[in-house]
Amino acid sequence: MDRVRKAVFPVAGLGTRFLPATKASPKEMLPIVDKPLIQYAVEEAIAAGCDQLIFITGRGKRAIADHFDVSYELEVELEKKGKKALLEQVRAIVPSHVSVIHLRQPYPLGLGHAVLMARPVVGDEPFAVLLADDLMLASQPVLSQMVEQHRRYQAGILGVEEIPLEHSTRYGVVEARPWDESIFQVSRIVEKPQPVDAPSNLGVVGRYILPARIFHFLEHTAQGAGGEIQLTDAIAKLLGERQVLAYRFQGQRYDCGDKLGYLQATIAFALQHPEVGAAFGEYLQAYCKTLEVSG
Ligand code: UTP
Repeated sequence: MDRVRKAVFPVAGLGTRFLPATKASPKEMLPIVDKPLIQYAVEEAIAAGCDQLIFITGRGKRAIADHFDVSYELEVELEKKGKKALLEQVRAIVPSHVSVIHLRQPYPLGLGHAVLMARPVVGDEPFAVLLADDLMLASQPVLSQMVEQHRRYQAGILGVEEIPLEHSTRYGVVEARPWDESIFQVSRIVEKPQPVDAPSNLGVVGRYILPARIFHFLEHTAQGAGGEIQLTDAIAKLLGERQVLAYRFQGQRYDCGDKLGYLQATIAFALQHPEVGAAFGEYLQAYCKTLEVSG
């Protein structure tokens, strides 16, 4: 049985929806409270049993490489100052059993093209793809839930959620037959359909478990919508050959590539934060009261 050991993080996008913040620093380094988005995604992958992290990077993404590298000067300084807890936190970002590989996507030719870059490292195994700007708040990490489904069905697994139909142009949308309340057999997938053309209200979010066979289809996928090589188009072809399931995960997803989603995530994560959660909750309540008074 094939275990999912490799996690691919495409981080080579331009992040235009978050300009000017993303002009010189990557979208994936935007913090939610005190951790960058990419670290949440990495923690989710490690919790799901992945021990090889493959970053597909592009121009201006050095901060991501630095974040997952040893910071010798910082560690020496924290040690000297006796800041043990912080030192442990910094060292634990990449546990010792986990390896990190950076690959370059020379041109931002789309998500599908970014995933294809991982082929030489992934080889012939099933692998996970995590888009860090889709931040998940869940009691069991979402990728762990998906790995369980993969273990059970040995099929491609797409993380999906119910979307308002008027938002269908933001998602890959699946046509799928329910097996039970959370697993659906996918028969068709369409990238960013108009609401009238959407085959269902199940939108694909940034969590995938894919068989290595997807690389074959990515290689033969022409540039589609927006001149990009779309992962969705390759998944559509994969459907002719392999079983692909849509999994409606438990938890809340925040689209942190979008300003409003990012702000909502910040509030949700701040309220749960062990250090500032309680004080922030009080502040927020008081603040909402002032809005009621002035409104
Ligand atoms: P998005 O569609 O969110 O694009 O990409 P973007 O460039 O990051 O952001 P906007 O829309 O301009 O604001 C989805 C994911 O695919 C990666 C991005 O880094 C993001 O994680 N991606 C996209 C690549 O790695 N390479 C690409 O060529 C395109």
